[in-house]
Amino acid sequence: MSPTGNVSEVLIKTKASTSRILIGESIENLGNYVSGRAILLVDKNVQKLYKDFFKNYDRILIEPGENSKSLDGLKNIYGQLLEKGVDRSWFIIGVGGGVATDIAGFVASTYMRGLRFGFVSTTLLGQVDASIGGKNGINFEGYKNIIGVFRQPEFVICDTEFLKTLPGKELVNGFSEIIKYSLIADSELFDYLDSSYESILALEPSSTHRVIKRCVEIKADIVMRDEKESFERRKLNFGHTIGHAIEKLSGISHGMAVSIGMVAALRISRAVSGLKKEDEERAVSLLRKYGLPTDFSYGIDEIMGAIRKDKKKEVDSIYFVLLEELGKSVIRKMKFRDLKKVLDDLC
Ligand SMILES: NC(=O)c1ccc[n+]([C@@H]2O[C@H](COP(=O)([O-])OP(=O)(O)OC[C@H]3O[C@@H](n4cnc5c(N)ncnc54)[C@H](O)[C@@H]3O)[C@@H](O)[C@H]2O)c1
Ligand SMILES: [Zn+2]
Repeated sequence: MSPTGNVSEVLIKTKASTSRILIGESIENLGNYVSGRAILLVDKNVQKLYKDFFKNYDRILIEPGENSKSLDGLKNIYGQLLEKGVDRSWFIIGVGGGVATDIAGFVASTYMRGLRFGFVSTTLLGQVDASIGGKNGINFEGYKNIIGVFRQPEFVICDTEFLKTLPGKELVNGFSEIIKYSLIADSELFDYLDSSYESILALEPSSTHRVIKRCVEIKADIVMRDEKESFERRKLNFGHTIGHAIEKLSGISHGMAVSIGMVAALRISRAVSGLKKEDEERAVSLLRKYGLPTDFSYGIDEIMGAIRKDKKKEVDSIYFVLLEELGKSVIRKMKFRDLKKVLDDLC
């Protein structure tokens, strides 16, 4: 069906499929996007809060939290699919944040060699990032998203009404990625996030819609040029190399760790790719406006130790995303020893 008045549609066209991202669509219209029998894989917290919307569907509940993205978690879901007699004619719909949609995408891509699937994304991070782009993965032996597939959902409903019940710390995780998009690809978005932060933080509907739509457009554009992350898609990792290291070392949330990782990447950008001091300061001040931490006070050796274990590293180097200016990013291959030297000089 065509989306109604207030819905924005962004398409992700790849060789194998076209994925429809529907920003501002209501969960109440889910049935319009599904054909055949459908089963929902729903995050338990979302089920509790919104059960009336799901009552007409078969459901499997997903325990909230990263632990569900595991082989044990999958075993439980495959078992329930078999018990319920789900076959290749069914449609799978993941409902929840990144945990639920990652699991649903992986299950839908592997159970019986693949069923049709779509998502209803219910977190800010999910709507701007996790549900978009066709990466469906689970964790294994302490490595995040190390087992997975690339496969695009047929649709993603980003119903912004869900965000009203999202805990503040989950919103902050989303804002970290939103700021990332502005830094790597869109200085106008940066200016908007800067000038309108009060209405954006208050989830004022038109600002929320505008911001999510722009982030989805940026990610869609990158994914269409490089679905399998051979080069350009690496730009989405801005702040994530050091961010992941900090997340592992300190246990703080992903968004907060990425914020500090972005601060480090901004500093390195000044030293290596010509970012102006004034732009670095504006970016750090924007992160603070959204309640994100910006103090980089970690031991360089510890950080380097964690980076050397990064799953995206090569033998003695890593692709590092840097800014030339706000909204303009570049990918540089950096040797570990050069990265360490820059960090030593900066800290
Ligand atoms: N596939 C990708 O490209 C991609 C990209 C980024 C992140 N991810 C993955 O996404 C996951 C993180 O996703 P997330 O940040 O959405 O976290 P999440 O799915 O863990 O959800 C966060 C919390 O919010 C709750 N929740 C969800 N929707 C709610 C709502 N509307 N109201 C109240 N509570 C709600 C959940 O139960 C959970 O407790 C990670 O596993 C990460 O690896 C995947
Ligand atoms: Zn991230």
